Amino acid sequence: MADWPAPGTRVQRALAQAGVASRRAAETLITDGRVTVNGDVAHLGQTVGPNDVLRLDGALVLAEPVRVILLSKSAGTVSTARDPQGRPTVLDGLPDDVRLYPVGRLDIDTTGALLVTNDGDLANGLMHPRKAVPKTYEVRVEGRVSAAGVRALRQGIELEDGPTLPARVEVMDRMHPGSTWLTIEITEGRNRQVKRMCRAIGHPVQRLHRARYAGVGLAGLRTGQWRFLTRDEIDRLRGFASGTVPR
Ligand code: URA
Repeated sequence: MADWPAPGTRVQRALAQAGVASRRAAETLITDGRVTVNGDVAHLGQTVGPNDVLRLDGALVLAEPVRVILLSKSAGTVSTARDPQGRPTVLDGLPDDVRLYPVGRLDIDTTGALLVTNDGDLANGLMHPRKAVPKTYEVRVEGRVSAAGVRALRQGIELEDGPTLPARVEVMDRMHPGSTWLTIEITEGRNRQVKRMCRAIGHPVQRLHRARYAGVGLAGLRTGQWRFLTRDEIDRLRGFASGTVPR
């Protein structure tokens, strides 16, 4: 990043941007006296600019290149950076020159579009409930979903953690007697939300695939493959994260 950090950036934010730690953890590093600016111990809220020299425990803090990756997640991988049970994670096989984090989670058996980045601000912005980032799922559920079931999914379902917001729901295929394919677009990101919504109307999910996240789809990627997002795609995501993308 040229001219990093931008003039007037708070130290904790600069540390987070550099991939040193989350903003919260960076605050602790500062209050623990482990961060210096131009040789003096930094204080919380202090602002810095491109001419300041930041050090953590004496080591120079330099900006990392921003990476935003679109992964076509395969089933059987967990959406965490490290799994205590040693299962394969979504980061296996991705570049390891910077510390990457998945933007939200997909269940272990869910496939599809997952963003992975080292830009903590972007990830947090995209995951913030108020930003209402659209996520589009292709869902195969057990049984034949009635028009009333579709209506209920569209209007909102009462779940144990409160009612869901209106969703876009289309029936893709009712041809198979034992199941129905639906497209469901939600703007929330609650834990296991799609599975809980479908179960609540009596149609447990058999297969769940995320086709798009914030409008970014998987064209050209086979399961398990990934690519870097383009500058334009990243700018668009930043629009979502800052709430400036009209919808
Ligand atoms: N909703 C779910 O139930 N599971 C996922 O993995 C994603 C959305």
